[in-house]
Amino acid sequence: MSQIILGIESSCDDTAAAILRGPGTAPRILSNVVLSQTDLHAKFGGVVPEIAARAHAEALDLMVEQALAEAKTALSDIDAIAVTAGPGLIGGVLAGVMAAKGLAMGLGRPLVGINHLAGHALTPRLTDGIAFPYLLLLVSGGHCQFLRVEGAERFVRLGGTIDDAPGEAFDKVARLLGLPQPGGPSVETAAQGGNPKRFALPRPLLDRPGCDLSFSGLKTAVLRTRDTIIAKHGGLTEQDRADLCASFQAAVADVLAQKTARALALAEVTTFAVAGGVAANQTLRERLQSVSDLPFVAPPLALCTDNAAMIAYAGMLAFENGRSDGMDLVARPRWPLDEKAAPMIGSGKRGAKA
Ligand code: KG4
Ligand code: ZN
Repeated sequence: MSQIILGIESSCDDTAAAILRGPGTAPRILSNVVLSQTDLHAKFGGVVPEIAARAHAEALDLMVEQALAEAKTALSDIDAIAVTAGPGLIGGVLAGVMAAKGLAMGLGRPLVGINHLAGHALTPRLTDGIAFPYLLLLVSGGHCQFLRVEGAERFVRLGGTIDDAPGEAFDKVARLLGLPQPGGPSVETAAQGGNPKRFALPRPLLDRPGCDLSFSGLKTAVLRTRDTIIAKHGGLTEQDRADLCASFQAAVADVLAQKTARALALAEVTTFAVAGGVAANQTLRERLQSVSDLPFVAPPLALCTDNAAMIAYAGMLAFENGRSDGMDLVARPRWPLDEKAAPMIGSGKRGAKA
């Protein structure tokens, strides 16, 4: 069944809309537009939920119009609407859900609320058509978990962060070293000329069984190392900065690679995929790829970071499974993909870790 789905995403600091043409077995992205709020939040050192919500409310219409124009599609051609209904910053999620309800009601088309994490988790299937089940490592500014993806709406969480997400740690390290935000790319660039072995930073939770992760202690270790250098030498040289970035990046890659090996042993799958903004990191990609001989899928960056094409795709699969929501669809700040798994403790500046 060929369907045209409008996807809407506004759960963090990107306002996004996308048009996807089905069927789910052969999806085609007709357009995928994202308006980032990075500049609005830059001077606050993190995402300010109230500013984010207002900016989403202002930009949503515009993004939908732009997505339609780029897809050369009229609003009346849309068969159904999929919207992120959580988890995330509640004001932003609400703005998206309200916009989607308005459109669904006005057009008389069905609506479905999508879990943002499901969007990320299904992306390797959208881009590479990989078969269920597969292991997904989701690493972004807001999330970090290992998921066994068993179906469009069936996920088992094998482990996740108990505190910060790795992207948060990259952003914090950049701030500690006076590098620009977002921290991931600037730390990666600075690390290029650095010695990853100069500082012996911790590898948190490797001594414990299982696939849970922790990044907050690593961040603090970078802070202490920085302060020790400053106390001894009166400041940081470019080389100190590069070495510290390289050592931090090596620690993150080490922990994620070793935990991936454990997750793969548990998951019994034939494909390993990665998604989320931190998956853009080249050192990390190379380490993850070398963990096993299984096929490794890393979607293109524009589909790894927050976007609405992944929401439209998750929506398409949900509709094909016969699921839809009514006008009573609620926005959820917390929404674990695997309802049976123990709740994650962490709740960072980008909202609940789910
Ligand atoms: O998935 P994403 O766009 O948004 C959410 O957090 O949901 O991920 C953004 C995060 C930021 O923390 C950013 O610093 C990190 O991904 N990031 C990177 C790189 N590019 C972006 N981290 C490490 N290395 C990179 N090259
Ligand atoms: Zn995300």
